[in-house]
Amino acid sequence: MSERAAMLALAAALALAAGAGCDNAWRTDMWYQPSRRPEDLPRPEPERSVPLGAGPRFENRDDTEDLKNPVPPTDASLARGKAIFVARCAPCHGPEGHGGGPVSKFFPEAPDFAYTTIRKRSDGFIWGTISYGGKAMPAQREGLTTQERWDLVNHVRHIQATSPVIEAPAQPAATP
Ligand code: HEC
Repeated sequence: MSERAAMLALAAALALAAGAGCDNAWRTDMWYQPSRRPEDLPRPEPERSVPLGAGPRFENRDDTEDLKNPVPPTDASLARGKAIFVARCAPCHGPEGHGGGPVSKFFPEAPDFAYTTIRKRSDGFIWGTISYGGKAMPAQREGLTTQERWDLVNHVRHIQATSPVIEAPAQPAATP
């Protein structure tokens, strides 16, 4: 066999060997991979795992009832709480927190914070209502830090402290 023929035979043998290693299980695109597609649900966390740096996990406002408010009601906190309230809560609860916001017309009526029933709630329960929603109120935690939600609690308390006490109606539209 000439040198050239030997080289060709070797090349053919190599090509065959390489070809045998490649079957269709090797995908060349990135579609078939264990990633999430757009709009898929988030990947479930493995059972009994806890995300790094995660705080305690709460399901609803009953879980947060005993939380202590870590944010003192300073002027700065009240100012932050009021600004967020006007932007996010006033459409339902009214600009002063006494109900009658424009969205309330199309929604179960948002209660007046001056009601005796809401005055009796713990800070933790109000923080939980803001974070996880109530019976009719949708959760409001999206885009708000933990501290901003405590600022809101401080603002709700400020409204209550500066309003006359109102006996909650016996069967208000949506108050528990
Ligand atoms: C889409 C309308 C809507 C928005 C927005 C809304 N709420 Fe409410 N909220 C309600 C309704 C309705 C209730 C009464 C029924 C319930 O508990 O879900 C309520 C109840 C409450 C209560 C009383 C909870 C209780 O049972 O004692 C508090 C406090 C409160 N909201 C605070 C807030 C704050 C603070 C925001 C803004 C971050 C906010 N809400 C945004 C509709 C709304």
